[in-house]
Amino acid sequence: MKQISKIKSVKRIMQAAKKNGTVAFVPTMGAFHAGHLSLMKKAKAQCDFVVVSLFVNPLQFGPTEDFEIYPRTPSKDRDLAADVGVDLFWTPLEKELFPPGFQTQIKVGKMSRALEGVSRPNHFSGVTTIVGKMLQIIQPDRLYLGQKDYQQCAVIRQMISDLHFETKLSVCPIIREKDGLAMSSRNVRLSSLERGIAPHLYHALQVAKAVLKSGEKDAQGIIQAAEQVLKAVPEIKIDHLSLCDVKTLQAISQVKNRAVFLAAIKIGSVRLIDNIVLKLPFL
Ligand code: PAJ
Repeated sequence: MKQISKIKSVKRIMQAAKKNGTVAFVPTMGAFHAGHLSLMKKAKAQCDFVVVSLFVNPLQFGPTEDFEIYPRTPSKDRDLAADVGVDLFWTPLEKELFPPGFQTQIKVGKMSRALEGVSRPNHFSGVTTIVGKMLQIIQPDRLYLGQKDYQQCAVIRQMISDLHFETKLSVCPIIREKDGLAMSSRNVRLSSLERGIAPHLYHALQVAKAVLKSGEKDAQGIIQAAEQVLKAVPEIKIDHLSLCDVKTLQAISQVKNRAVFLAAIKIGSVRLIDNIVLKLPFL
């Protein structure tokens, strides 16, 4: 596995790689866990050349968010990426991606402002700007993202379509701990008490699914059932619970065939998100 920082060198390698087969791209902010590795393994299984980027992107963190204390384990990440067969490990330099005078951003409209966008107003423009820049540099055949960040997938899918990027998006399943907690680089910041409470988020999603299965199709009823699970735990602060259309992410009032239930909570200073795609039992 090659490790490279400079954009010029990455472009040169990509030109050669593209002549020899298909190219996969997995963008990350590092502190790898099994969720990240599942994306890389799938990319390796489906494409000839796999590029993984590791860049903790300052643009997508709000001024009061955790950029400074975001977990960083670059040399461990490098070894893990090499072990799963990644071909190019790209560690961009901030000064090269955002040189003095940098002033262009990619902003996806409505879809970025809902849900996560309410409490994180500039988050998705930070994500689409960096992912758009990286797609432009790498020009991969396939882009691998995790369903864990459902809204991020939807927003990037919209950007790919709106800006005519020649890349096919593959969304990979959520990898969870044994107790159901979705793996996240931020989980290491939970205290042991908080870590014990965190699986309630997954339980709330399971309750939403069970309630739909029992015949409740109204969004309000489903949301309330999940809310009860979370409200029973005083340490949990609910940010949002929403039942949405799987593509547009518009809130829906009734589940007709498929819907996505999206949840965000805070435990102490750690923000956790999770989601589940709900299908009517007879589908
Ligand atoms: P990061 O949080 O490092 O996540 C990188 C990729 O791993 C994302 O596509 C994310 O959805 C996926 N992922 C994280 N946890 C997962 C889990 N438990 N199961 C499956 N996939 C999981 O998401 C970002 O970085 C950034 O916003 C980025 C796209 C790199 C732009 O800066």
